[in-house]
Amino acid sequence: MQTSAPERETWGRRSAFIIAAISSAVGLGNIWRFPGVAYENGGGAFLIPYLVAFLTAGLPILFLDSAIGHKFRAAPPLAFKRLNRKAEPLGWWQVGVSFLILTYYAVIIAWALGFVWFSFGRQWGDDAVGFFTGDYLQLADAPGVTLDFVPAVLITLLIVWIAAIVVMSLGLRRGLDRANRITLPLLVIVFVIIVIYAMTLPGAWDGINQFFEPDFAALAHPGVWLAAYGHIFFSFSIAFGIMLTYASYMKRRSDLAGSGVVVAFANCAFEILAGIGVFAALGFLAYTQNVQIDDLEGLSGVALAFMTFPTLLSEMPGGAFMGVLFFGSLVLAGFSSLLSIYQVVTGALQDKTGWSTRRVAVTVGLAAGIPSVLLFGTSSGLNVLDVLDAFVNNIGVTGSAVATLVLVAWVFRAVPSLRAHLNALSSLKLGPIWTVAVTAITPVILAIILVRGATEYLTAGYGGFPTWFVTTIGWGAIALLAVFSFAMSYRAYRRSDATSFVPDEPDRLRTEMTDLIAEARETTAQRRTTGGTR
Ligand code: ALA
Repeated sequence: MQTSAPERETWGRRSAFIIAAISSAVGLGNIWRFPGVAYENGGGAFLIPYLVAFLTAGLPILFLDSAIGHKFRAAPPLAFKRLNRKAEPLGWWQVGVSFLILTYYAVIIAWALGFVWFSFGRQWGDDAVGFFTGDYLQLADAPGVTLDFVPAVLITLLIVWIAAIVVMSLGLRRGLDRANRITLPLLVIVFVIIVIYAMTLPGAWDGINQFFEPDFAALAHPGVWLAAYGHIFFSFSIAFGIMLTYASYMKRRSDLAGSGVVVAFANCAFEILAGIGVFAALGFLAYTQNVQIDDLEGLSGVALAFMTFPTLLSEMPGGAFMGVLFFGSLVLAGFSSLLSIYQVVTGALQDKTGWSTRRVAVTVGLAAGIPSVLLFGTSSGLNVLDVLDAFVNNIGVTGSAVATLVLVAWVFRAVPSLRAHLNALSSLKLGPIWTVAVTAITPVILAIILVRGATEYLTAGYGGFPTWFVTTIGWGAIALLAVFSFAMSYRAYRRSDATSFVPDEPDRLRTEMTDLIAEARETTAQRRTTGGTR
């Protein structure tokens, strides 16, 4: 039996989408991932591939995701199904990727929360590395999967999950929007304080110079370009359903491309700011240890945030307070991004089942929270996270981007209609360059990246881990994603508008937008006149 479509919530004002999208984009990726990736891949010269990746993949796919979500008014599986009946598995693939990221993203926030606490009194002492891997994580000697729970991790992990489930149960406006309106401004204030303070430390400018010092030779290495493209997806929250889902809750008459540009530039600005702050702090650490930055260890990812940073906080005047601010900023940035990843899964499940917001939020929270606790609340958590993160990002997300572009542009030939949709609504009109980017340039570059990445993992393995471990966790996750995508598509939608949905006509939207703008101008002019005669 078919049922009528459930009422779909929307963001209230345009600013709610922009704030939500910036809160999603600005996450752990900006603060601990970007500075390290940039440093390892040519320092200042990395900004060139980063800019190219931003223009050829970041912005174009951000627009594409927004257009699909907004035009078809659904989370990825239903949106793709409405685009073409056969495309539903692609949507579930993106949901599956988000689900996996959700399970380990929560634990990084949980560690950061733990470190807010440890910062009082700088409890890591003079051995931050030993403290993180030994005292805190109780990291198992050999890679594997154990059920050896680590209470200190478990407590904060449960706090993160409970907080996320509560916010998500409140829905889009009362939950997500409100949370974002608290976390984003707070994050900006805290982060600006950290960066300004870091810049006043001795040695800080050497660090900043090092960050911006271009190593142009690095640009000749394909790996540097691959790193730039790989980073852009995670950082922009694109190609794994977030921007698509968030755009699906925008009102019918919304400036899509204009909002996308604001989000993209805000994310980049935050990323560069994070790079400056982190390298100013590293410059200080090198100064106190009387070495060059190049001689420091642990300049990327987990090591940078949870080993190198605590080390430098021990040396820094006011280090305890700055530690609270730094790890607090990781919690704030991470939590709002976590909510956006969560929303991809809840949105998809709600479209499919028609369940209430609370029911989907709790179901997804338990479905992702339990494996998250079992896999990452234990002494084997860090190793599993390392492999899963690499495969989910480099194969799962990049594969999703390639498949989306190839299917949408080449197989379903939907780019012209999506461009018409964007242009009918947006203050910024997309020209043929956008079409060329999403049809030709980006899919080709991404396909090369994907093949290279997969070949490397197949031939050289990953991170020195044993083959059985990489195969089980890494390739196992990819196989699971494939099975999940098709299995979820197998079950039919019971709602009547799953395939009979008719998107808005671009001409009608354009006329409505023109009227809306004229109306807004008239109201402003009237207000000015009344204000003037008062
Ligand atoms: N865009 C989010 C981040 O950078 C997922 O962490």
